[in-house]
Amino acid sequence: MEGTHDDSTIFNLNIENELRFTVGEQTVSLELLMGFAEIFGAEMVTSTVYTFPPFSSIAVFSWQGCKLKLKGKTEAAYVVSDTLQMIHVHLHACLEERRIKAEAEDVKGPISLVVGPTDVGKSTFCRILLNYAARLGRKPIFIDLDVGQNVLSIPGNICILPMNKPADIIDGYDQQGLSVYHFGYKSPGYNIMLYFLLLKKLGHSMNLRLRNANKAIRSSGVIIDTCGWVRGHGYNSITLAAMAFEIDTLFVLEEERLYTQLKRDMPSCVNVVYVPKIGAVNERSRLLRSKIRDGRVWEYFYGSQTPLQPHSFQVKFSDIDIFKVATPYVNFADDITEISEMTLRPVQIGIDLVDQVLGLSSADRVDEDLMITNIIGFICIIAVDMDLQTVTVLSPQPSPLPKRILLMGNIRLS
Ligand SMILES: Nc1ncnc2c1ncn2[C@@H]1O[C@H](COP(=O)(O)OP(=O)(O)OP(=O)(O)O)[C@@H](O)[C@H]1O
Ligand SMILES: [Mg+2]
Repeated sequence: MEGTHDDSTIFNLNIENELRFTVGEQTVSLELLMGFAEIFGAEMVTSTVYTFPPFSSIAVFSWQGCKLKLKGKTEAAYVVSDTLQMIHVHLHACLEERRIKAEAEDVKGPISLVVGPTDVGKSTFCRILLNYAARLGRKPIFIDLDVGQNVLSIPGNICILPMNKPADIIDGYDQQGLSVYHFGYKSPGYNIMLYFLLLKKLGHSMNLRLRNANKAIRSSGVIIDTCGWVRGHGYNSITLAAMAFEIDTLFVLEEERLYTQLKRDMPSCVNVVYVPKIGAVNERSRLLRSKIRDGRVWEYFYGSQTPLQPHSFQVKFSDIDIFKVATPYVNFADDITEISEMTLRPVQIGIDLVDQVLGLSSADRVDEDLMITNIIGFICIIAVDMDLQTVTVLSPQPSPLPKRILLMGNIRLS
């Protein structure tokens, strides 16, 4: 490590070393001056300045050694030689071997589910595996079941993304081809039956989709991220997801107790693999988590690094139909896998809907299965005029709304 005349520091990384840094309130920039380095599985390009947003926590790994320039005030920046990268690359190689076999036999590639408690690096692990696969020209599908800290959309949704290229180091996943499915709540526990039903339906439609996909997509397989809820119904949602998405590999991060339980409960066709926790993963308090969640809704409408100018316009009550999706009461003693029904409850428009975020369904009719119909965007109700029978909405797109069916949960803009 060398200081320079400005506020930058030069790091010379040896073979298989990792620079870890945490960004404070101000952005920090990083440049690869020499050699090769990767961030969460995506390669850095020399002489490109990468600017990281406040509060991010980053690891830059080098297989061959490299020289880096870090500019700006970090909360911590240090180099480690003891990393899990060897384990990650080994697991990637095992998945790749299965993809090669699947391609030759024209069958589904590996379907992996990643589970573990909160803040153990599940999403980072998914990103590394997906990036490594994409760097080899594979087209894996990424499914994010984490309705709280979803990395592909705003909280309250489940997302499916066919990947064509590695995630951008700063901007993350390329959203082309993204499908968003409405759940409506920040945690599966707010409406666990609905969550179970959604997993079942999405699993079923995903399996059909894979069967009909082209060979390159089918053999590349699927990587599924989850939330950190691993007890009680959290555990049930892991086993249900495993069944619904017909997984064959289950990566259990950090917790040996969970690993042992799942090894006992999974059918023998599922390979249960223990993966140690990434040492430097940033643990986030409940308050910080909820701030991040609320921040994601705000960013959807107003942007973050690049500010956005959302549109605001009036819509007649008669031009929209708002629904809540509900499931019938199920006795928890019953077999949860038996839940199969949902109902749509029309929502009366009133001033209590101010700040409510609604998912705009791509469906044209209510008799389509709205749970597995893509959400094309979100709007937020910012005012209700009962006399004029209009609502004022905030929308990333200008008036008029392209569809009339809106789905509601408890996501608000705050
Ligand atoms: N090797 C590493 N060095 C430094 N920071 C890291 C490393 N790996 C992951 N992080 C950071 O740690 C934080 C938490 O990681 P991640 O989001 O992957 O955990 P998670 O288990 O998915 O959390 P959650 O339970 O909230 O979904 C992220 O900000 C990520 O950038
Ligand atoms: Mg995560």
